[in-house]
Amino acid sequence: MFAKFRFATILLLCLVPQLASAWGDLGHETIAWIAQSYVSSTTSSTIKGILNLTQSDYIANVSTWADTYRYTSGGRWSAPLHFIDANDNPPSSCSVDYSRDCGSTGCSISAIVNYTSILLDDDSSSTTKYDAMKFLIHFIGDLHQPLHDEALEVGGNDINVTYDGDHTNLHHIWDTEIVEQLADGASAESFAKNLTASIKAGAYGWDVDSWLVGTTLNDTMSSALTWAKEANGYVCSDVLSAGVDAVEQGNLNGSYYKAHFDVARVQIARAGYRLGAWLNLIFTGKTAV
Ligand SMILES: *[C@@H]1O[C@H](CO)[C@@H](O)[C@H](O)[C@H]1NC(C)=O
Ligand SMILES: *[C@@H]1O[C@H](CO)[C@@H](O)[C@H](O)[C@H]1NC(C)=O
Ligand SMILES: *[C@@H]1O[C@H](CO)[C@@H](O)[C@H](O)[C@H]1NC(C)=O
Ligand SMILES: *[C@@H]1O[C@H](CO)[C@@H](O)[C@H](O)[C@H]1NC(C)=O
Ligand SMILES: *[C@@H]1O[C@H](CO)[C@@H](O)[C@H](O)[C@H]1NC(C)=O
Ligand SMILES: *[C@@H]1O[C@H](CO)[C@@H](O)[C@H](O)[C@H]1NC(C)=O
Ligand SMILES: *[C@@H]1O[C@H](CO)[C@@H](O)[C@H](O)[C@H]1NC(C)=O
Ligand SMILES: [Zn+2]
Repeated sequence: MFAKFRFATILLLCLVPQLASAWGDLGHETIAWIAQSYVSSTTSSTIKGILNLTQSDYIANVSTWADTYRYTSGGRWSAPLHFIDANDNPPSSCSVDYSRDCGSTGCSISAIVNYTSILLDDDSSSTTKYDAMKFLIHFIGDLHQPLHDEALEVGGNDINVTYDGDHTNLHHIWDTEIVEQLADGASAESFAKNLTASIKAGAYGWDVDSWLVGTTLNDTMSSALTWAKEANGYVCSDVLSAGVDAVEQGNLNGSYYKAHFDVARVQIARAGYRLGAWLNLIFTGKTAV
């Protein structure tokens, strides 16, 4: 019995990361740690209150919950909220159109709109706010992964690729393998420190002032759509720039990684920076600390 139970547990542990398709844990936790550098003390204490957490990793702690929840029977309804299925035509044309792409069961954009308004509403119950906070932290991250803004081949899940000799799929390497190669063994916290310092230094040609253009609580849908369109644009310019057949050939950890890793880096940095600013807007009315 015991041995069987252990086997089942090990099997589950092996299956969960493969099923969980979103920036992997490292991506979400890095985004969370970057956001933590940008939240004001009022924002920080409000979030800690809603989450009932006092620990220093209070945002990172809840940043991957939504990926576990979606695979529970009670949480299956939330699966479509992790992405928006842009029905465009990469690599020749990329676009996101809310009415064409969001779908009747909702998408990342409707979810960001919904959970932002729940957090802004003084009448929301504390349990509603608790879930809204955890969802919002996760979905703003997901929205920045280009293949979360793409319908083609189930967001690349059905495009088989090889990475460092492993057989996986295109969606998965953008969630996980590329991010791990980029972090080079660093923890989420120290990878985030590096990226936060890079944001402050304006490294890699990043035009940080432009990252909050169009970001306003007056129109949460257009704010989220602006971010989604930018991420979706990378499907044409980078992720599938040479077409589907090209990524099905060879190991993508070499020249493909070299050509495109900067997209993963800037998208994680933007997601963290914007998440911090968005939470500040909700709880203080201003983006800045
Ligand atoms: C908050 O967390 C503490 C433990 O850290 C627990 O004792 C308490 O019941 C929690 N409060 C609520 C409202 O869930
Ligand atoms: C979040 O923090 C709690 C303690 O407050 C801990 O039990 C839990 O394992 C943490 N979860 C993650 C994913 O870090
Ligand atoms: C908003 O979120 C709540 C809580 O998850 C959910 O019950 C409700 O259906 C959502 N509304 C919309 C319009 O997405
Ligand atoms: C992709 O790989 C899966 C197994 O991982 C296999 O079932 C499927 O047929 C492959 N698809 C293509 C198009 O080769
Ligand atoms: C890519 O993966 C292959 C197979 O595991 C390995 O031989 C090669 O050194 C890797 N290339 C880079 C640049 O990491
Ligand atoms: C971040 O890490 C990269 C790669 O290790 C390094 O080249 C860069 O200087 C670091 N940036 C900062 C601001 O620490
Ligand atoms: C948002 O709306 C308020 C009140 O209508 C207005 O004062 C403010 O300038 C608007 N902000 C933006 C960024 O559009
Ligand atoms: Zn997700």
